[in-house]
Amino acid sequence: MKIAIIGQGYVGLTISAFAGEYFEIVGFDNNPKIVENLNNGVSHIEGIEGATLRKWINAGRYRATIDGHDIADVDVAVIAVPTPLTSDRKPDLSYIDAACKTIGHHVTRRILIINESTSFPGTLRDYIKPAIERYSKNPIEHLFAISPERVDPGRTDFNQKSTPRLYAGLTPEASKKTREFYSKFCDNLVEVSSPEVAEAAKLFENTFRQVNIALVNEFAQIAHSLGISVYETLDAADTKPYGFMKFTPSAGVGGHCIPVDPTYLAAVAEEHGAPATFIRRANEVNLEMSEYIVRRVAEDNDGNLQGKNVLVVGVAYKPNVADVRETAAELVIQHLQSQGAVVSWHDEVVGNWKGESSAPLYGADIAVVVTKHDSVDENKILASAPYVFDTTGKVKGAKGL
Ligand SMILES: NC(=O)c1ccc[n+]([C@@H]2O[C@H](COP(=O)([O-])OP(=O)(O)OC[C@H]3O[C@@H](n4cnc5c(N)ncnc54)[C@H](O)[C@@H]3O)[C@@H](O)[C@H]2O)c1
Repeated sequence: MKIAIIGQGYVGLTISAFAGEYFEIVGFDNNPKIVENLNNGVSHIEGIEGATLRKWINAGRYRATIDGHDIADVDVAVIAVPTPLTSDRKPDLSYIDAACKTIGHHVTRRILIINESTSFPGTLRDYIKPAIERYSKNPIEHLFAISPERVDPGRTDFNQKSTPRLYAGLTPEASKKTREFYSKFCDNLVEVSSPEVAEAAKLFENTFRQVNIALVNEFAQIAHSLGISVYETLDAADTKPYGFMKFTPSAGVGGHCIPVDPTYLAAVAEEHGAPATFIRRANEVNLEMSEYIVRRVAEDNDGNLQGKNVLVVGVAYKPNVADVRETAAELVIQHLQSQGAVVSWHDEVVGNWKGESSAPLYGADIAVVVTKHDSVDENKILASAPYVFDTTGKVKGAKGL
């Protein structure tokens, strides 16, 4: 079977690497540099080895392409393109639309089309299906299904094969074919009754995380005002063997999913006249954390950060990955700069960010730890400045939340 995977980023390339063992994969991406590198066996995604790509390339089972004609004769097309927010924080389906155009213009026979991109309930039925039908030159009754991706970059205990996969087709035939496809490389498939349930489940999973992170971030502020340790209190609560799940405070949420997906849920809720006040407020609380942290740092430094050399330690959105999308470090830096601080950053995993290189981990007046990678020595962080504020709870002996 020949499979087109539209989008060769975190999600699409990861599926390509797993599915390459069983299918012939055409990895379609509209970024020529990515396509060129992939065809040379060079991976741009952490956790996907170039050696795996080269193995599939040499076996004739993987090829990246920027040419839509290359997907004309596939049996299955999987959509794995970005679903960000617009500048006014509304769902941006323009990438999905472009993927639909590629499929509609080029696929010439009836195939199974699966969406793995995260979006609101109704996207498959009311948006993707009509768009592909509209872009198709001839009327073709494709099969449509959803299987939202749940991969967690950097995670080693669960991967594409072992993470249970939700799916639902628009028709029983689409569901059956989707099951046959994923059962080759996923151990645990969970069918739900409609695409809308699968789409909503994915959004709810990430909204659950966002809301709980906001709750613990608010609680960190409450604990500080009460003069008690937030970490000790959370550890104490965590001794309860049921009904409690521990989340830890931070400078905010980052990455492609947690800061974005809940807004998709809120947007569709409000469109249907259902208030999403809790979800909206959780997002605000997490965004406000950076300001709170800078206020705490300023309070500990005579209320004045003007001209101080502040080193932000760790700019990736989470430990042990180089991904800086939606990183909370960006807001922390902005708030520090608005107080007149001279800000540099250190992150040996990220290396380069916004045209700047990682600064050395020493010689600052103040260090603010936003992300602590395992490879960064705690003692070096403590020695990097006379005052260190740690937002991660991992640097013993530093000031913190
Ligand atoms: N990264 C994650 O951890 C994760 C986890 C679960 C779900 N998701 C969801 O999966 C989807 C994809 O996310 P990602 O992290 O893989 O994004 P990404 O930015 O890593 O990769 C997207 C790729 O799509 C390409 N692309 C953009 N427009 C295209 C088009 N019109 N045609 C072909 N290629 C195109 C880009 O060049 C890029 O290589 C999103 O909806 C995201 O929310 C991501």
